[in-house]
Amino acid sequence: MTQRALIDELAALVAPARVLTDAPSLETYGKDWTRQFIPAPLAVVLPRTVEHVQAIVRWANEHRVALVPSGGRTGLSAAAVAANGELVVSFDAMNQVLDVNLTDRTVVCQPGVITRQLQDLAAEHGLYYPVDFASSGSSQIGGNIGTNAGGIKVIRYGMTRNWVAGLKVVTGKGDLLELNKDLLKNATGYDLRQLFIGAEGTLGFVVEATMRLDRAPKNLTAMVLGAADVASIMPVLHAFHGKLDLTAFEFFSHASMAKVLARGDVPAPFATPCPFYALLEFEAVNEALADQALALFEHCVEQGWVLDGVMSQSEQQLRNLWKLREYISETISHYTPYKNDISVTVAKVPAFLAEIDAIVAAHYPDFEVLWYGHIGDGNLHLNILKPRHMDNAVFFETCAKVNTWVFEIVQKYNGSISAEHGVGMTKRDYLAYSRSPAEIEYMKAIKAVFDPNGIMNPGKIFAPQG
Ligand code: MLT
Ligand code: ZN
Repeated sequence: MTQRALIDELAALVAPARVLTDAPSLETYGKDWTRQFIPAPLAVVLPRTVEHVQAIVRWANEHRVALVPSGGRTGLSAAAVAANGELVVSFDAMNQVLDVNLTDRTVVCQPGVITRQLQDLAAEHGLYYPVDFASSGSSQIGGNIGTNAGGIKVIRYGMTRNWVAGLKVVTGKGDLLELNKDLLKNATGYDLRQLFIGAEGTLGFVVEATMRLDRAPKNLTAMVLGAADVASIMPVLHAFHGKLDLTAFEFFSHASMAKVLARGDVPAPFATPCPFYALLEFEAVNEALADQALALFEHCVEQGWVLDGVMSQSEQQLRNLWKLREYISETISHYTPYKNDISVTVAKVPAFLAEIDAIVAAHYPDFEVLWYGHIGDGNLHLNILKPRHMDNAVFFETCAKVNTWVFEIVQKYNGSISAEHGVGMTKRDYLAYSRSPAEIEYMKAIKAVFDPNGIMNPGKIFAPQG
């Protein structure tokens, strides 16, 4: 069958207007926020119903066409990149909230619902959807589930996985499964819902998700504390974590913050520049808690861990302090950063960080290196910025060499090569640093059960089969 005839057959299944083949659409929908791969999809299809998705998957099985799911395209591991003639299945047209249940505190979402839309809807009902990150204004719930997205509140609320009450999925065979039926208690064997969370669309596509909500936090208050070195940040975490119920504990280097300050629209937290900063947040539900935070700050200064600090006194100040952290990723995206998203258990962070830092200093002497991340839950983002005049391919090749040494340390500490961005294509060749050969074989066997023809996002998580 010719390519034209294939596409015509697909168009007949979902309506011609739902299939895009123009060059700008292929370019836009064929990529995510990574810059390493050139998009080259066959076409883009925008299903509107579950039946459309099933018809697309069955058509793809019949013709052995690879499918790539596409949400808000904010991914950072190329899990939603179509670089090899795949059909992109965009969930932009399945973007409705189908139900709000205030008794169960759940919202039924189509996969294309934007994260911010769910957060706002929760707020309208006096509730809270706690998974949050800088790209929540464009990322979609389906994509968040596909990568088990984390973000800035994991220390208190955990990852996306914790908030998925139930899923409807279309498997790689085209079957529609209803997983967990939104139940809180369900002891009926394997929880297949969990398999689809973080599967990056390699087993099937999420076509409906019931998301849980929480009570809204009260009087969120942030502190930014300056430290002389990154090692000093961990005792600060211990001091605060024991006494306050933290909703966030982030860190960033001065070099990272300087990029945000250079934009000119975010004020510096205080006059003293410090090599590193911690940003922590808690619910100041009463004066006593705010006073306790200040006492802890003084204790940290006395111990020499903290050099200066500030505590938000208003919503506006809270927002401004968060911008120092949240704007880093987007601000540095113009430097084509090579991104590492590594994690270890929290107790191991100081030793782990020291070893990684030494490797990075030794092997990237000419590149600008930026540290930031969710240090309170053991997740560090290490970004290497591409020198302006360096060729992309040369830059990524150099970074890939150093990667091996970084990941050897990750392996030594029993950590993860991808804490929250996913494996996609950028980390798939390193999977063995985090997963044993036996584990990878079981993972591939699971994929074969749900996707026997290997059409669901092939080449993501593992190299293409066969
Ligand atoms: C963040 O923590 O800012 C996000 O994971 C994005 C990034 O790592 O750049
Ligand atoms: Zn992050």
